[in-house]
Amino acid sequence: MLVKNAKELLMKAKDGHYAIPSCNFVDLDSARVLCSTAEELHLPLILSFAEVHKTVLSIEEAALIGKYLAERYDTPIILHLDHGMEEEYCVRAIDLGFTSVMIDASMKDFEGNVTTTKNVVKYARQFGVQVEAEIGHVGSNALASDTSLYTEPEEAARFVAESGCDSLAVSIGTSHGVYKTGTPSLSFDALHGIAAALPDTPLVLHGGSGTGDENLSRCAKEGIAKVNIFTDLYVAALAAIQDPKIKDYLEMKSANNAAIKAVQMHYYKVFGTK
Ligand code: 13P
Ligand code: ZN
Repeated sequence: MLVKNAKELLMKAKDGHYAIPSCNFVDLDSARVLCSTAEELHLPLILSFAEVHKTVLSIEEAALIGKYLAERYDTPIILHLDHGMEEEYCVRAIDLGFTSVMIDASMKDFEGNVTTTKNVVKYARQFGVQVEAEIGHVGSNALASDTSLYTEPEEAARFVAESGCDSLAVSIGTSHGVYKTGTPSLSFDALHGIAAALPDTPLVLHGGSGTGDENLSRCAKEGIAKVNIFTDLYVAALAAIQDPKIKDYLEMKSANNAAIKAVQMHYYKVFGTK
């Protein structure tokens, strides 16, 4: 079922010390396998479409696919816009029926991030749509170990109070994509500090792929309610379709879907999702 109140679902996860996976879809196949796996396991799913993938799937297509599938299954599914980079794109997602949006103004200064997030929150409120924002910055590889980009607890609390966002993506040492330097070392002290400063706000971890099961399982237990996974799903899918036993296009699609399903099932276990 298409869930409107993402915050409620995420707060349940936070209080229950588990996390819900946010998995990116890029086409009908990936969206369908993500939803059907969630249904099979009777577990919630955050079905995410990232603005950066608009070259392979338009937001209109993503909305149609996401809404259709979410309504088709009984398990709770949140249709989420991942990394909306501009207010206008978030507005489009809301108008098209996304039930949750991320406005990523984390590269702006504090005031700029607050202003942009506040504008999206104001629009989203009219439709009961939830807003995720980011403070600190989760970049890609090179930035992973730059502790100056880690989220500061006091700043995070001030940001949530001023912007009115529903959930907050934090930077504690993960980064997007494949890690060039192996499993990262995360700052659990930073996570504990942020969680203590924001008891009523679900925290989000971006860059989940390659972060290591032990790290992620600890994050889920110690304050993260949503973990974003993209790279691991599609690295596994690409590896699976190289199988020389695959005879035709349809078999290739099956192998692709089976690989996505296996990664998703694995992360449900790691996150202890209920
Ligand atoms: P990964 O590709 O590193 O899993 O990051 C996913 C993500 O944060 C999507 O927003
Ligand atoms: Zn991300």
